[in-house]
Formats: sequence, C-alpha cells, structure tokens
Amino acid sequence: MNTFSVNNLTVTKGNTKILDSLTFDIEQGDFVCIVGPSGAGKSTLLRQLNRLDYGMTGGNILWNDKDLGTYDIHKLRQDIAYIFQKAVMFPGTCEQNIRMGCMYEKGLSKDEIDQRLEAAIEKAEITKEMLKVKAEALSGGQQQRVGIARCLMLNPQVLLFDEPTASLDVETSHNFCLTLKTLKSDIKAKKSASLMITHRLEEAQFLADKILMLDAGKIVAYVPVDDFFNKPVNERVTDFLKAYKL
Ligand SMILES: Nc1ncnc2c1ncn2[C@@H]1O[C@H](COP(=O)(O)OP(=O)(O)OP(=O)(O)O)[C@@H](O)[C@H]1O
Ligand SMILES: [Mg+2]
Repeated sequence: MNTFSVNNLTVTKGNTKILDSLTFDIEQGDFVCIVGPSGAGKSTLLRQLNRLDYGMTGGNILWNDKDLGTYDIHKLRQDIAYIFQKAVMFPGTCEQNIRMGCMYEKGLSKDEIDQRLEAAIEKAEITKEMLKVKAEALSGGQQQRVGIARCLMLNPQVLLFDEPTASLDVETSHNFCLTLKTLKSDIKAKKSASLMITHRLEEAQFLADKILMLDAGKIVAYVPVDDFFNKPVNERVTDFLKAYKL
C-alpha cells in the first residue's frame, strides 16, 4: 500500500521547469531520504507534498488514494507536518513552545492536551528539566527537538524534514539522528511515512529505507538504501557518491 502516489508531477516557476514529470510512490511505513545537488528541486518537491508550494503545472499527487488538492488545507498541514531547517522559537518556555502546537485545535480537553504533551516529549526525547527552560536559551539541537515535539502535538501522520540537521554540529546532529531513528519505528507501526532531505549522506544511509535522488528536477534514482550505496544504478549516482567520498 502507498501513502503518497506522485504522478508526472511538473512544477514550473516563471519559465523554468523546477520539477520535470516526477513519478514515484511512497510505501506505507517507509522513511525516504531525498538527496541531490543544490538546486535539484528537493525542497520544492517536499513542499508540494503538503501544498506549501505553488507552481504545479502538470500531474498530480495522491495521498491515501485521494488527490492532495481535495483535502482541507488546514487538516492537511496538520496531518502532514513540515519541519524546517531551523525551528522557530517563540518567547516563553520550552513547554509553552511545544503546547503551541495544538493551540488552534478545537475541542481538546486539558487531559488530552497533557497526554499529547507527554507523548510528544517522550518521542522527541525532551527531558522534564528542559521543559521549564526559556526556549531561546536552548541549543540548536534542543530547539530542533522542541520543533519536532511541537509538530507531534498535532498527531501528524507524515513528517517531512527539510535538512533538519544542517545547522547542527556533528555531535548534536548525530544525537538528533538517533532521535529520528526512534521516531522511525513509530512511523512503521503507524504505517505512515516520513521524508527527509539531507546533504549528509551518512545520515541518509543510517536512517533511510529508500533513497530518492534528484538532479535538475528529475529523478536519478529511487532505490533501497543499500542498493543506492553499494550498487549505483547509473553513472550520475556513481559520480555523486565519488564526491561524497573525497
Ligand atoms: N519562486 C521561485 N521562482 C523561481 N525559481 C525558483 C523559485 N523557487 C525555487 N526556484 C528554483 O528552483 C530550483 C530548485 O529549488 P529548491 O529550493 O527546490 O532546490 P533544493 O534541491 O532544495 O536546493 P538546496 O539543496 O540548495 O536546498 C532552484 O534552481 C531554484 O533557484
Ligand atoms: Mg532545499
């Protein structure tokens, strides 16, 4: 079963084709890493998956067998959460920042909100001590966790990550990837999906079930992670991996 089904997706901005007739499916439970050079169209593709982007001039995207365009936009963005390179912190404590995640959801009881908070901080590996700290005083890695916990307050089905570790140092990003690995089992259990863009191939190798490589708005490879690294499907992948090994 697929979660997303992308069919001949073409995105044009001005006179430029940013994505050129992409076709692929995301299977239930898969964690897919998107790689490729700068400007390949990775963020454009990810943003199309929860309608954060404009410019679709051809094809369609189905989510759970229904055209993405037919979903209520607010519900869609609640179900398909987008996590940016750097989490935005609002004035207040870490806990207040996390609770903001569901502040606009109507009809939630205090108990339900508290239960969600418990679950979110556990999954995002936030300690009880951290909750009381002013959000702006947290490190970059901790702020990313707060950003994830805030998203988890909405109980999303799908998590989209756009270079979540790009601004983190190597050690922090390593720890953050360990957190993502635990989230991955949750994704498998829920039969949902997650997509993450990264320039750090070791992260992709560590986390992904499948690798989707884009170049100049086209799919170069979409294969299981071991095949991507051990049996490059074409010369473009071989060249890309060579650069990585330098
Ligand atoms: N609003 C826009 N108008 C015109 N061109 C755009 C617009 N947004 C993005 N582009 C172009 O689309 C291409 C793909 O951009 P995108 O941000 O998706 O790339 P990316 O693969 O995420 O790159 P990076 O790894 O640097 O984040 C780039 O060449 C970019 O200049
Ligand atoms: Mg990008």
